[in-house]
Amino acid sequence: MSVDVDVAGPHGTDRSESERLRERIARVLERARERTAALTAAVPESDLVAQHSPLMSPLVWDLAHIGNQEELWLVRDAGGREPVRPDLDQLYDAFRHARADRPALPLLDPARAQAYVATVRRKTWDVLAEHPLRGTRLAEDGFVFGMVAQHEQQHDETMLATHQLRVGAPALSAPPAPAARVPVSGEIAIPAGEFTMGTSTDPWALDNERPAHRVHLPAFAIDAAPVTNAQYERFIADGGYQRTELWSARGWAHRTEAGLNAPQFWECHGNSWWRRAFGVLTPVDPQQPVLHVCWFEAQAYATWAGKRLPTEPEWEKAARFDPVTGGSRRYPWGESEPSAATANLGQRHLEPAGVGAYPAGATPTGIHQLIGDVWEWTASDFTPYPGFHAFPYREYSQVFFGGDYKVLRGGSFGTDEVACRATFRNWDHPIRRQIFAGFRLARDLSPHELERADS
Ligand code: AVJ
Ligand code: FE
Repeated sequence: MSVDVDVAGPHGTDRSESERLRERIARVLERARERTAALTAAVPESDLVAQHSPLMSPLVWDLAHIGNQEELWLVRDAGGREPVRPDLDQLYDAFRHARADRPALPLLDPARAQAYVATVRRKTWDVLAEHPLRGTRLAEDGFVFGMVAQHEQQHDETMLATHQLRVGAPALSAPPAPAARVPVSGEIAIPAGEFTMGTSTDPWALDNERPAHRVHLPAFAIDAAPVTNAQYERFIADGGYQRTELWSARGWAHRTEAGLNAPQFWECHGNSWWRRAFGVLTPVDPQQPVLHVCWFEAQAYATWAGKRLPTEPEWEKAARFDPVTGGSRRYPWGESEPSAATANLGQRHLEPAGVGAYPAGATPTGIHQLIGDVWEWTASDFTPYPGFHAFPYREYSQVFFGGDYKVLRGGSFGTDEVACRATFRNWDHPIRRQIFAGFRLARDLSPHELERADS
């Protein structure tokens, strides 16, 4: 343990505080780059330039796009430095070229892409060393550095999903996720009342998480854990994929057209389900949360179970509301940063952990594994909070509001902690399954049950 010596800096700030921030920024940027490097070094060049699915970019596109965003926002805009490769802006603009069209672009080859991101990163270190980390909204509390680190980690999770879609010899490995430590089942009642949703104070929260606002919810119950593979297998065995009445009209049409009959990457051999993960076929683990289901499958399962998906405010209240103080926490367990004991994040494991594996990460009310393991589909469309302002660019959130997107919460084993907190909002089309998504269930509480909960 070192003793902090407070020295007034050039702007009258507490030097030890700004040095600590600079060190933290350096750590998260380095962690992101190590992961990007590992995800690209794992496969031969031919796999970096190939398109493994029309849903995904070639890995080498993600790589250079990561560098280009860092150049645009951090080196040029916040840092005021000369452009490195302004000619690349259009090539790596996600809105200019659909993912399916990206392999045909004159992309930087892997060696040039590596050199480009390394050049940008050297400029980033200069900016970090010299920037006051305040004075503009973009720089305040190092926001732009946090934004760029989150962006790289988001693409690292996307690259991990590309690896999962890739066919061929296994390229990635990690220790297995932990199994259950405590039994977890049933549901937790959340009494009616207001809570604070979103944040205005979390320095690296992205625009769509802002501002903090009060939301009143009627009482509801939410499951203590995500739906497991064992539970999902019972839905399949009970004809879940054949029973029209369990599905919405759109969901049924999609199920039929896409030929869905089990989660993506599941295979039936003999009488049992197996799943292929990162090139390795293993029996489906009954304890783990179900993974690689689309929103329509989650909804059909919920109908079968006599429940529903939680709305986005319900999910966030369950994860954050502290009935003792009346405030909202940053994480289900409190304010401390995630650790290996509280959540399955950061690609430490390449699978969700068994339900009950993270008792230290539960809410005081006993809701487990809200953070990490699997992204959780909510019932809600992606819309702005009251008072939303696009920042720093409309293309991060604004252009997706009101589109055909459902919100997902909580992060997965593939999400880095810098891009995961109980206010963080993810979104995708309701048919998507290649993301690391599962779900948990909720339901209204009847007046009779409410009386019992009150007494
Ligand atoms: C928030 C995960 C939906 O990957 O499309 C990356 C994040 N935005 N680059 C996505 C993002 C711009 C985004 N999601
Ligand atoms: Fe991006």
